[in-house]
Amino acid sequence: MDEAYDVGLGNIDFVLRKKADSDFVSFWDDEAKNLSWFSYWEKTLDWQPPFAKWFVGGTINASFNALDVHQKTKSSKPAILWEGENGESRIITYGEMFLQVKKFSNVLKSLGVKKGDRVTIYLPMVPELPIAMLACARIGAIHAVIFSGFSAASIKDRISDSHSKVVVTANGGYRRGKIVKLKEVIDEAIKDVDFVEHVVVLKRTENEISTSSKDRLWDDLMNNVPDSCDAEKLDSTHPLYILYTSGTTGKPKGVLHGTGGYLTHLYSTFKWAFDIKDSDVFFCTADIGWVTGHSYVVYAPLLHGATQVMYEGAPDFPDASRIWEILQKYHVTIFYTTPTALRMFMKFGNNIPNSFDLSSLRLLGTVGEPINPEVWKWYFKTIGNEKCPIIDTWWQTETGGMLISPLPGLETMPLKPGSGTLPIPGVRISVVDENGDEVPPNTKGYLVIKNPWPGMLLTLWGDDEKYKTVYWSKYKNCYYPGDYALKDDDGYLWLLGRADDVLKVAGHRIGTAELESCIVSHSDVAESAVCGITDEIKGEVIIAFVVLKEGISDTEILKKEIFDKIRNDIGAIATPKQIYFVSKLPKTRSGKIMRRLLKRIANNEKIGDVSTLEDGTAVTEIQNAFDDIQKSIKRNSC
Ligand code: WTA
Repeated sequence: MDEAYDVGLGNIDFVLRKKADSDFVSFWDDEAKNLSWFSYWEKTLDWQPPFAKWFVGGTINASFNALDVHQKTKSSKPAILWEGENGESRIITYGEMFLQVKKFSNVLKSLGVKKGDRVTIYLPMVPELPIAMLACARIGAIHAVIFSGFSAASIKDRISDSHSKVVVTANGGYRRGKIVKLKEVIDEAIKDVDFVEHVVVLKRTENEISTSSKDRLWDDLMNNVPDSCDAEKLDSTHPLYILYTSGTTGKPKGVLHGTGGYLTHLYSTFKWAFDIKDSDVFFCTADIGWVTGHSYVVYAPLLHGATQVMYEGAPDFPDASRIWEILQKYHVTIFYTTPTALRMFMKFGNNIPNSFDLSSLRLLGTVGEPINPEVWKWYFKTIGNEKCPIIDTWWQTETGGMLISPLPGLETMPLKPGSGTLPIPGVRISVVDENGDEVPPNTKGYLVIKNPWPGMLLTLWGDDEKYKTVYWSKYKNCYYPGDYALKDDDGYLWLLGRADDVLKVAGHRIGTAELESCIVSHSDVAESAVCGITDEIKGEVIIAFVVLKEGISDTEILKKEIFDKIRNDIGAIATPKQIYFVSKLPKTRSGKIMRRLLKRIANNEKIGDVSTLEDGTAVTEIQNAFDDIQKSIKRNSC
């Protein structure tokens, strides 16, 4: 067994776990009662595999549970301690947030938004982003938030798929001291889209924008609406939001989450994993454009009436001490971030965090990628001063909330650096082989989830068939998340990265197929294959191999065009570290690109059996390309 870290000796709550495992439906039934319902449900779970409906017949509202329920006791309590990248700050109390959300709900209504309509939100990390989301939730509109780093072409795909009739954006947002011109990106994205009726523009910066007849200013609209708006009584299964995420095939898919089940999952996991108390100051560094921001910046903390810090910009801007400065300034007690951020902070050296007073911290969380044991230990010792448990939470956009995590709000147990420990109660998880048989302890296999859970996605927006095939076809009646894992002798789970063609670059999900089809859409490109190689900070970086059409020369200009195309069509997060021109790709005799082989060569692993390869010369060529990049990476790190 690996080194175990006991932080506050205690025990696993076997009684609760046994109860949850023996009857997960009544277990969640009890948990759901922590929320405020307009009417209780008739059926806790309607399970028509693979479609789960939770708390059927119950009526609820997410905005009501995030705001209205706190007004009697917490209206002057800060909900958000906002820190702008440029040094500005704002405190938004539960009372203020309530008022703003009701007003923006009326704005949406005045623009013709009705229950079930979709609203695309493309805003920087400012309080108006959760305000806009909660306003949608209040009137039963479905929000579709897009991360502010995505390009116009990506936004167009998402707006077209969700058919949003209103878009909410800003005249800019700050990132690394520069203004990101969000409104211009929206103008480009919707220039040929006729169904977007209105664009609401928040003034966040001094950036001048050009306006069209569709554009309305946030402030003007807010000044002209009443400040009362009752929350709609919505069915528990009413869709709360669509969030697009990359998968193994084609364009990003719209993960659709419901209301009652999703909120129950978040309420319980936030309480268990972060042991949230009224006096806590929570700080999650995730951007709201990703699922961690939806679940654990917007919904979970507000459901609990917690105070949280929200930071607008880059974690290392204007310098490497920014995050620790924020922790010290706001006396943060619970800090939740990514392994990529931690690897970067670790590289900056201990002197920086050591020069700040971080003694308010009591819990430290991590999410989004496997955490290397040495980074875990650094987080534990240098940031947590050996007194804060590390809450390594495994989950996905599709799962809605955490499914594997230490739960100090429920039980205490020894931690192991790099392990997410156990599944949350009520969720049965196994590690299986190709045939679905459980593998012995300490053996790498595929993670599967064997029963529905409340935060589970309802489906993929407009595509039930894809939902079935992507998640439920590999193993009968089991959800397949696409991750490798192993269970050790103590039953602890170790997450070992993606088992499919999805990359995790700095914690962001990028589909290889989406990236390849973008590269291939360049008129000079015949074929392309991309894969990830290990990176010291980002976990993984992208390498792209490109075969050009007959007669086309591999120039630096062409390479730049391909880089630009990726930035324009997807966004900067999908930019490869390197593009290599090769004359062919390693393929099986049946014509499939051997991505596994690319990955192996890329990670300097043994190549293994290549007997099914069509043409061995492609391997040599690609191996040479990788030797080059390995050398260049070494040079960069010197
Ligand atoms: C990976 C992010 C190891 C995993 C919340 C999963 C993790 C994918 C962890 C989902 C973790 C997330 N340890 N790997 N603690 N958390 N992952 O949808 O591969 O952006 O399938 O959701 O991130 O990424 P997504």
